[in-house]
Amino acid sequence: MRLVSKKKLGIGIIGSGGIAQGAHMPGYAAIPDLCEIVAVADVNEETARTAAQKFNVKHVFTDYRKLLEMDEVDAVSVCTPNYLHYEPTILAFQAGKHVLCEKPIAMNAKQAAEMVAAGRKAGKKFMVGYNLRFAPTSQLLKTYIDAGDLGEIYFARAQALRRRGIPGWGVFIDKSKQGGGPLIDIGVHILDLTLWLMGHPKPIAASGMTYAKFGHRSDVVGFMGQWDYKNFTVEDFAVGLVRLENGATISLESSFVANIPEDVFTSTLCGTEGGALTHPLTIVREQHRSLQVFKPEIPNPNINTHAAEVKHFCECILNDTE
Ligand SMILES: NC(=O)c1ccc[n+]([C@@H]2O[C@H](COP(=O)([O-])OP(=O)(O)OC[C@H]3O[C@@H](n4cnc5c(N)ncnc54)[C@H](O)[C@@H]3O)[C@@H](O)[C@H]2O)c1
Repeated sequence: MRLVSKKKLGIGIIGSGGIAQGAHMPGYAAIPDLCEIVAVADVNEETARTAAQKFNVKHVFTDYRKLLEMDEVDAVSVCTPNYLHYEPTILAFQAGKHVLCEKPIAMNAKQAAEMVAAGRKAGKKFMVGYNLRFAPTSQLLKTYIDAGDLGEIYFARAQALRRRGIPGWGVFIDKSKQGGGPLIDIGVHILDLTLWLMGHPKPIAASGMTYAKFGHRSDVVGFMGQWDYKNFTVEDFAVGLVRLENGATISLESSFVANIPEDVFTSTLCGTEGGALTHPLTIVREQHRSLQVFKPEIPNPNINTHAAEVKHFCECILNDTE
């Protein structure tokens, strides 16, 4: 790919916990021709120092605003908890940096709209960490869709359903820090993938309902550790219907806990010429008055989706592409 600029990007990491050390930092470190991580910031100094040591980063801060003052920093990864996506993103744009913000974009739609507007005003790239788009299966399905093999996609059923999956660590059950329950944590991944596959038709109406039927109970088993049921402030099940400008609809279901036989994480797409399931990738087509249901072979199945995501972010900045 031709690079508009020959300059290597200086990267700053804001929040250097799990996703930063497990995905963003190794992703940047794997593309030394495009970028270099020059600074790390975390309120927990030990976490910041450990991350910096692991990836050979020179500058360490406990206040991310100091990182934003650095001229060597061209772009930042915002890897803080959900309630701290908005402020660092806005301040990064004001400081003239490009931003890759972890999912979900923000705590609510108002914040999200302000973040997008701030990025546009600054003329900087803004990307949200929806890494599922970079999965080889997603890329292949998008190729089928763009070639017209599914025809008009008029309905999708997006499901991110855990049976007993309330995380027993972190802030997943704290609405003030997380913004919500399964919908904002795992539902956003399958919703984003579905919208991207459908070509992002504009949503015109949404209705939904949330339930908290299990999170407050001490008698419910935790398959992902035992959460603090006395301080459970989010929903454990969410359902919604989104109507899109092109007449299509998306039905969305997301749970941490539900009495269902197995976990489900997939989107079912219904088109006039074919259908598809995202996980496992399955295509349905009618041919010779018979239904063909097949699972295409995946090229490069072992691609690391997070590494592909940060590489795409860097290439978009360097090539001035979307
Ligand atoms: N794309 C994915 O699949 C995926 C996977 C995991 C997490 N995430 C997202 O990444 C984000 C972080 O999750 P995580 O699992 O890494 O959490 P984490 O708790 O492991 O890391 C967050 C870090 O942010 C630091 N932090 C908190 N306040 C800060 C501040 N004011 N300034 C600087 N640092 C601060 C914490 O000390 C911590 O080290 C969340 O929004 C989560 O939704 C995305």
